Amino acid sequence: MPAGLITGLRGVDLGVPDVAAHARFYAGVWNLSLAAQRGASVYLRGSGAYCHILALHPRDTPQLLCINLAAADRDAVDRLHDRVRAAGAAQIDRPAPIAEPGGGYGFAFADPEGRVVRVIAEDARHADARVLPDRPEKITHLVLNTPRQEDAADFWVKALGFEISDRSLLTFIRCNADHHNLAFHPGEASSLHHIAFEMDGIDSVMRGAGRMRDAGYPVEWGPGRHGPGNNVFAYFVGPGDFVIEYTAEIEKVGENHRVREPREWAYPPGHSDLWGATPPPTARMKDAQKKIGFAAGLFRP
Ligand SMILES: [Fe+2]
Repeated sequence: MPAGLITGLRGVDLGVPDVAAHARFYAGVWNLSLAAQRGASVYLRGSGAYCHILALHPRDTPQLLCINLAAADRDAVDRLHDRVRAAGAAQIDRPAPIAEPGGGYGFAFADPEGRVVRVIAEDARHADARVLPDRPEKITHLVLNTPRQEDAADFWVKALGFEISDRSLLTFIRCNADHHNLAFHPGEASSLHHIAFEMDGIDSVMRGAGRMRDAGYPVEWGPGRHGPGNNVFAYFVGPGDFVIEYTAEIEKVGENHRVREPREWAYPPGHSDLWGATPPPTARMKDAQKKIGFAAGLFRP
């Protein structure tokens, strides 16, 4: 599979019971910016170039509607469509113009465990993309629970051209120089584990943690530094029990990267990260990391 057809993780579409309340949180506390509103849906951007990274749509329960991947160009979309279909995706749309803010050309499909994914190219980008203190630039990774960890990673590698970066308890995969854009975590069901937003450095992660604490969202795990990816982290349980992470300093991976195995990531007893300063994840967060399922059927805005 030629690398480079997928260039990045553009973002996610979430279903939430109260779009206005979630939008207030993500704009006013989490520090995203309003990008667009259409009907009852709200689109929020980071400081980076993507038209939006988080879209909120009204649904009865909190759920993950769609994972959006950026493709290199229209030809990459068409080639990926052929590959995803050949890999046996149960449901798949034909490539077509995307009728939502940002537009573009792409298609939706469901992977073997029913995760809905869209591949999009030629979408609008912001000309004022930059790195700003205290403001997330982008969604840098998602972690997904799966009962079939190796099969899940295998599909994303073969159909979409992701590469395996490392294996610990999780399997980390990437589609660009960031150590991981996605990781699979063992779980009883296919569900969302957490969403990670990239900050410009440790100070922004820590000031973000302070801002969240002031707003009634204490740190549930961290601050710490992960082994795989070497990124600094602070985790929270946000509105709707979505688990969200501020992170920074993700390892950049080159062609000579060696995939490390679980035994190489053992922490000393009682530690859950490289620093050893944070208590382990709270029971509340671990519970929330099993609550958010995927909506059935292909997402069509
Ligand atoms: Fe993470």
